[in-house]
Amino acid sequence: MLCEWECISLAVLLDRVFLELPVVSNGSSWGVVMGRWSSSSGAPYDVRIACGSNQDLYASNGFKWAKDFGYTAGSSANLTVKNTLVPMLNTLRYFQISDGPENCYNISVPVGHYLIRCFFVFGEQDNSGREPQFDVSLEGTLAFSMQSGWSQDVDNAYEDALVYVTDGAATICFHSSGHGNPAVASIEILQIFNNAYQRGPNAPPSQGFVWRSVKRVSAGAAKSGYGSDFQANLWGGDRYWESDSSLFLPGSVVTSLQTSNSIANCSTYPNIYPEAIFQSATTTDPTQTISYTLPVQANQNYTVWIYLAEIDPTITAPKQRVFDILVNGVKIFEGVDIVGLAGAPYSAVFLNATVLVEGRALMLTFNPVIGRIAFNAFEVYQLIPVEWPTVNQEVWALQILKQSLNLPTRLGWNGDPCVPTEHPWFGINCGFNSNASTWFVDGLDLDYQGLQGYLSDDIGSLSSLQAINMSNNALQGPIPSSIGNLSALLSLDLSHNHLNGSIPGNLGELPHLEKLYLNDNFLTGQVPASLGAGALRGASLNLGNNAGLCGVGLRECHGSRSAAKVGLAFGILIGIGALVACILLYWKRRANIARAQRLPRDAPYAKARTTFVRDVQLARTVLSDQFKPAYHEQASNTHSTLL
Ligand SMILES: *[C@@H]1O[C@H](CO)[C@@H](O)[C@H](O)[C@H]1NC(C)=O
Ligand SMILES: *[C@@H]1O[C@H](CO)[C@@H](O)[C@H](O)[C@H]1NC(C)=O
Ligand SMILES: *[C@@H]1O[C@H](CO)[C@@H](O)[C@H](O)[C@H]1NC(C)=O
Ligand SMILES: *[C@@H]1O[C@H](CO)[C@@H](O)[C@H](O)[C@H]1NC(C)=O
Ligand SMILES: *[C@@H]1O[C@H](CO)[C@@H](O)[C@H](O)[C@H]1NC(C)=O
Ligand SMILES: *[C@@H]1O[C@H](CO)[C@@H](O)[C@H](O)[C@H]1NC(C)=O
Ligand SMILES: *[C@@H]1O[C@H](CO)[C@@H](O)[C@H](O)[C@H]1NC(C)=O
Ligand SMILES: *[C@@H]1O[C@H](CO)[C@@H](O)[C@H](O)[C@H]1NC(C)=O
Ligand SMILES: *[C@@H]1O[C@H](CO)[C@@H](O)[C@H](O)[C@H]1NC(C)=O
Ligand SMILES: *[C@@H]1O[C@H](CO)[C@@H](O)[C@H](O)[C@H]1NC(C)=O
Repeated sequence: MLCEWECISLAVLLDRVFLELPVVSNGSSWGVVMGRWSSSSGAPYDVRIACGSNQDLYASNGFKWAKDFGYTAGSSANLTVKNTLVPMLNTLRYFQISDGPENCYNISVPVGHYLIRCFFVFGEQDNSGREPQFDVSLEGTLAFSMQSGWSQDVDNAYEDALVYVTDGAATICFHSSGHGNPAVASIEILQIFNNAYQRGPNAPPSQGFVWRSVKRVSAGAAKSGYGSDFQANLWGGDRYWESDSSLFLPGSVVTSLQTSNSIANCSTYPNIYPEAIFQSATTTDPTQTISYTLPVQANQNYTVWIYLAEIDPTITAPKQRVFDILVNGVKIFEGVDIVGLAGAPYSAVFLNATVLVEGRALMLTFNPVIGRIAFNAFEVYQLIPVEWPTVNQEVWALQILKQSLNLPTRLGWNGDPCVPTEHPWFGINCGFNSNASTWFVDGLDLDYQGLQGYLSDDIGSLSSLQAINMSNNALQGPIPSSIGNLSALLSLDLSHNHLNGSIPGNLGELPHLEKLYLNDNFLTGQVPASLGAGALRGASLNLGNNAGLCGVGLRECHGSRSAAKVGLAFGILIGIGALVACILLYWKRRANIARAQRLPRDAPYAKARTTFVRDVQLARTVLSDQFKPAYHEQASNTHSTLL
């Protein structure tokens, strides 16, 4: 049976939640509704994706597992091993290295708070027998790290986290680490209340963190199960509660308590729990302690949530059962007296505390003070600070460039360009603006990448660019004049491409430009005089091997210095035909000889004309310390601090 709700506050909230829901096409008809609110539109938003499947599947409880959608690339394969927790799934999606290092699902959902759960599989999708290792980010924050050994048991192959989606689309990205092909069997995006899991009036807002679930235990439960298996309201996120029966070593003196009485206040807005998790408890002999040791990442913050209700009929008043709760030896709750706190037996109490764990184990201990210890359930989450995103207009500009450059699929370019900071896009260097709390792009390193497209004007939107190297590709078309707007630019190397058209006049006005290499292209027309001035300031230029270029440091332009007149001259040339062309060539050869004789007097332009002279130290921002993996662990003693 369901717990009672606080209907007044819920009604207020439902109005708001309902208004936030966007119009969703019927092709994405989520929302199998259970429980008391099934007839209203106040059901939580939920999406369940059967990755790799080409048809919708329906579970026996009525949940729809939608066919695979919203992904950027990848291939599908059959699951070779049945998933015992989600038996209706029989396919997976995997991402080969040729799909690029970053691959994402981008699923449109209303702005809100979600539990996102994935099942990862090792289904021989590599044909190599090697377990893939990869990272998964949620909304740009690295959340799951599938490291060696994860596929050994189902518990490790399952991950969930609580995440706020603030931009109208849940982005789940798979980041290859070069060890095998990342693969996923299912993704669930299940809405919970926006203000669920508040850590207290003075705690930093939950929005600032991804809450990665480390352990979720229903103590003394006869079996593990989802919230829906226990008929819980779906606003609880249909979390999976693991029975602790398998967690104890043989010979441990633990016993379980069970009741079928209903539990008061076990599920009140906004924190929704299955009543069942309060209807069983783990206890032990008097004076006995119980500890759970969870492997964790060192030097991270963990938030521990303890769920209690007195279900032992022999305990009816305060001070009959009192115990302490410790994390790594530090008391997080002292003198816990369930009946004292709840005011009555069969009434629920939630406790939460956040600790900094320095070592690689989190040991949760229940220590008796009066009588025996007893507890019903607990959850442990790692608090991962959310990454700041890349400036929106830069992401758009890069998306357009990706198209215009004809970027090879193997380079990826999916998700956010700069975050997670452990996995920036290939060829992108980023910097952080601490004033605006945003990442921006300050370098493009795409030399020798087989690019065959053209440079979009939108490159001018990457306003913080300091260095561009796209040399040795097959880029066509003109150099966009918007590059002349990149006032932070220090270095522009577009050499060895098939660029044509003239050099934009404003390039020479870039105040900090130190290197400009446009050699070995098909550029034409007159070199802007401002570039000569740049060379005077000490900038390094190479405009060589562009047959059609004239002016500054190159051959003289025909008759006039005006590029327009050069153009006109070409027009006439074409018009008059071969005879005139011959005459012109003859004239040109004579002019070249004359120019060669004049060279010594033409300094310094004459110097600038030869291939390069000075190299100026390039003060480019490169990936630095801030890009070290967050999961860089240090060996240290197991130790923690209560925050
Ligand atoms: C709803 O979905 C069905 C089946 O996918 C489709 O045939 C129908 O055209 C859809 N209707 C609308 C209004 O999208
Ligand atoms: C997956 O299994 C189905 C039958 O269950 C089969 O038709 C299909 O070809 C298989 N796909 C692959 C990629 O092996
Ligand atoms: C993700 O989906 C949203 C909504 O459908 C869309 O506005 C956005 O452009 C998508 N992002 C990417 C990177 O495709
Ligand atoms: C978590 O604990 C703090 C006190 O440490 C309390 O203020 C807050 O209400 C608790 N949150 C919930 C949801 O019980
Ligand atoms: C349930 O909680 C409310 C306050 O939120 C409290 O007034 C009430 O006494 C509680 N009920 C029981 C049975 O403890
Ligand atoms: C842990 O929390 C404390 C206090 O909120 C904060 O100063 C610290 O940076 C956090 N550490 C990590 C690794 O998130
Ligand atoms: C940040 O703000 C400070 C003071 O307002 C300013 O001096 C600095 O240039 C700003 N930095 C950036 C990257 O905008
Ligand atoms: C651009 O890349 C090429 C090839 O890797 C390299 O030789 C050249 O020095 C780079 N240009 C600049 C300005 O660093
Ligand atoms: C350069 O920037 C200015 C001001 O932001 C804008 O008006 C102009 O269109 C830009 N030029 C190019 C070529 O993009
Ligand atoms: C530059 O090359 C493209 C195709 O490679 C061509 O369509 C265009 O006309 C050329 N432009 C000039 C100015 O030669």
